[in-house]
Amino acid sequence: MEKIQPSLSPQDIVCAEAAAQPNAMVVFGASGDLTRRKLLVSIFRIFTQDLLDEKFYLLGCGRKKLTDEDFRKTAQQAIRGNASDVSAKDLNAFAEKLYYVDGDYNDAAFYESIKARLVQLDKKHKIDGCRIFYLAVPPFLYSPIVEHLGLSTLSCINGPDSKQRVRLIVEKPFGRDLQSAAELNDKIRRCFDESQIYRIDHYLGKETVQNILMFRFANAIFEPVWNRNYIDHVQITIAESIGVEHRGSYYDKSGALRDIFQNHMLQMLALVAMEPPASFEADRIRDEKVKLLRSIRPFNSNELNSLIVRGQYGPGLINGKQVVGYRAEPEINPQSKTETFVAAKLFMDNWRWKGVPFYLRTGKRLASKDTEIAIIFKKVPHSMFISAGLEDMPANVLVLQIQPEEGISLSFQAKRPGSKICMSTLNMNFNYKSIFLVDMPEAYQRLLLDCMVGDRTLFNRYDGVEVSWQLLTPVLEAWQNETLAPCEYAAGSESFPEVDKLIESDGRKWRKLAEI
Ligand code: BG6
Repeated sequence: MEKIQPSLSPQDIVCAEAAAQPNAMVVFGASGDLTRRKLLVSIFRIFTQDLLDEKFYLLGCGRKKLTDEDFRKTAQQAIRGNASDVSAKDLNAFAEKLYYVDGDYNDAAFYESIKARLVQLDKKHKIDGCRIFYLAVPPFLYSPIVEHLGLSTLSCINGPDSKQRVRLIVEKPFGRDLQSAAELNDKIRRCFDESQIYRIDHYLGKETVQNILMFRFANAIFEPVWNRNYIDHVQITIAESIGVEHRGSYYDKSGALRDIFQNHMLQMLALVAMEPPASFEADRIRDEKVKLLRSIRPFNSNELNSLIVRGQYGPGLINGKQVVGYRAEPEINPQSKTETFVAAKLFMDNWRWKGVPFYLRTGKRLASKDTEIAIIFKKVPHSMFISAGLEDMPANVLVLQIQPEEGISLSFQAKRPGSKICMSTLNMNFNYKSIFLVDMPEAYQRLLLDCMVGDRTLFNRYDGVEVSWQLLTPVLEAWQNETLAPCEYAAGSESFPEVDKLIESDGRKWRKLAEI
């Protein structure tokens, strides 16, 4: 592969990072998987980068009975297990900021004990009530917890700037369809103002997803060709080789459409296709994303099957090892019709994109992990090399690679040394790791820090959530009434015939998944 790599000089680098304000973080679900795998290590990283205020403390809340000491030990293990280069000194200093209280999420007494603990800890750490509540619990617990936060008055602090000082982070999925999302939002809004709510989608915290904005709007050369005149189609892929792992009971009620498509997929689509915002401000960016999502043509129920396809993985081979099919996974209903794969063709009815198809696909237990956005440009209108047999020349393709290797590549035709007309496709590659020489930060690190400084740019506003459910709820309803099960695909495969047909019927092809 050809490599043309840019070099960076110090004056090329423009950075801005605000340190967190003094606050306490209250994590519901503190003994759970998300806290163990992502949250603790992300906050620890913020701490080691000196961006965490020295007064910060974290109160973990959960059903499991643990003392502060137990929680500190499990937190230290979790951080060691999920990060490299962890110094014992840093880890001990960080652990001193951790506390724990256990109880039942449906019991008002739990919230009274949280409150009493916060009063005591605020005094100890000299924090005057600035708090972030993080719902790192299964979605069915969001409503009871929020109601109790309201009833116990934990959701408010008296004083003129109280709204700025108590924040709520809600994990995705926000609701499971249009109605449940509206109900959840109403419940939250009874206790919290929109300005206090941080609806998290960790994809928005990934460096390469944030880079979509920089790439498109900090360079003048891409916008002029970023439209229906030059772009043939766009492919967005989130392929995973993992299965449902230990999350079967959640996943079987959710499925790929709710778990990834409604949030990560549509958010990436919005960033790639939206109009330029006037400024890098939370609401200006969110306005443009919502406007774009509103322009997606609703699915026509008569042609649903030619626009969106679902599948479920059967047994197969992943990295040479035999794995079970979805219905044989732990905690999955053996008759389950839940989809583990979704592919769709979307159109945006607006001036920029009219007639340009956006093909989106996401699935579990596929051949490799590969998240990318590929912009496939139109072919040259006429080949002047036709006499040399070069009639159909490949289109230029710009790939924004999100995972597993973060980077950008642009393919183009170039002359090869040698005979007079000898051409081939070259790739101009930019790879984050080799240019910036750092490990990519964890998405949660970015998002937690943003919440601590009160920046909602990378969080979803309710109208954005609502419009995505408006688009997908008719699909969910149609699938629910469908007697046929989703198509089965073998674990470890790249695709299956129904998915191929979705794009091949338009004379196009899916890109091959990246090899690992
Ligand atoms: C989560 C989904 O939001 O994203 C998981 O619930 C999925 O099912 C995960 O595996 C993928 O995230 P990432 O960052 O590994 O691409």
